[in-house]
Amino acid sequence: MVGLMGSGKSSIGRRLARALELELIDLDEYIVDKAGMSIPAIFAAEGEEAFRDRETAALREVLGRPAVIATGGGAIMREENRQLLKAHPPVIWLKASPKFLARRIKGDSNRPLIAGGDVRKRLRALAKIRHPLYKECADFILPRADMSKDEAMVAILEFLA
Ligand code: S3P
Repeated sequence: MVGLMGSGKSSIGRRLARALELELIDLDEYIVDKAGMSIPAIFAAEGEEAFRDRETAALREVLGRPAVIATGGGAIMREENRQLLKAHPPVIWLKASPKFLARRIKGDSNRPLIAGGDVRKRLRALAKIRHPLYKECADFILPRADMSKDEAMVAILEFLA
């Protein structure tokens, strides 16, 4: 699962994993467990590039496992990661507008890329860069804002069937 912050990758991924009787691997949680530090702490102590290195390493470790994998919103930023994702289909993009996402993640202190700014504006800037990259990787695009989490899950299961 790929998509911007707040698109529901982890929560829909969890339901999907349950339905498919697979493990859910939340890449952010995987990185945090390995590092023994929270995501804001990794960004503060090591910077974004080091976080991205950890993210690429984690992706390499988990892709190919029989699991639903919820990636972090920026996992598609590196060409290397996009190639990895494309080599492990299906990639599902939970697509939503910055307006929809901003309402969901406003005030979230666990996301350094939106901390202390105009969240909708930040998301708009991220969407401009990232939407083409999600699209490049996606086998299935789910219009997230048009559906409840349960409906989203049903749509994904239909696609997989
Ligand atoms: C990021 C998204 C976050 C997390 C980190 C960076 C991003 O994951 O990996 O804060 O670059 O969009 P979520 O999409 O799960 O919030």
